[in-house]
Amino acid sequence: MAEHPSSQVHFVDVVQHLIDEIEIRLASVPQKNGLAQCSDVAMINLHEGKDHLVIIAGVGGDLLLEMVRSIVSRHSSLMKTNRLDFILCPVRQLHKVRQGLNDLKLGLISEKIVQDNKLFYEIIQVSNQSPVSISLVGETMWDLSNSEHIAYRNIMIEHYQKQPSHQAKLLLGLYEKIK
Ligand SMILES: C[S@@+](CC[C@H](N)C(=O)[O-])C[C@H]1O[C@@H](n2cnc3c(N)ncnc32)[C@H](O)[C@@H]1O
Repeated sequence: MAEHPSSQVHFVDVVQHLIDEIEIRLASVPQKNGLAQCSDVAMINLHEGKDHLVIIAGVGGDLLLEMVRSIVSRHSSLMKTNRLDFILCPVRQLHKVRQGLNDLKLGLISEKIVQDNKLFYEIIQVSNQSPVSISLVGETMWDLSNSEHIAYRNIMIEHYQKQPSHQAKLLLGLYEKIK
């Protein structure tokens, strides 16, 4: 909130007591640009004439993609004049999310691998103003001089080696090409 003083920062959850806790925390910070709302995030209203960044983390890939789809389809007019970015951290179904973002014509800004509590996550920033297509395996996020990245790549390769489907074979080939 301090880094984006001219933006309204929205905190959204469907669970009222989490929003109540956020409201208490917002009241105790000097910045006054935070707004907590108990709502389905897919139904939020972003004001026209402003750029927006929506951060969605910690939800499954299917649900996350539905949320992004709904926000995009409800703000088609805003997207003609303004920038709409998303920072996304899906739990599972990563390739489906990546394909779905391409289908929505959102382009890549940046992507990175993070490890927390022995689990790996991918953080993907996309924008309606980026023309860069999103790779199914996050080609730009790998640094194979980093042992955590090697470990994550090996987990993905071992996982797809066990799957018989055509899609799994395609993903396996893409992970094996990462250098
Ligand atoms: C695992 S928590 C992650 C919380 C936080 N984003 C994080 O990464 O630490 C998932 C949260 O998403 C909320 N949630 C699930 N579906 C939602 C929806 N449609 N709209 C708003 N919040 C939702 C849940 O109530 C829950 O609090």
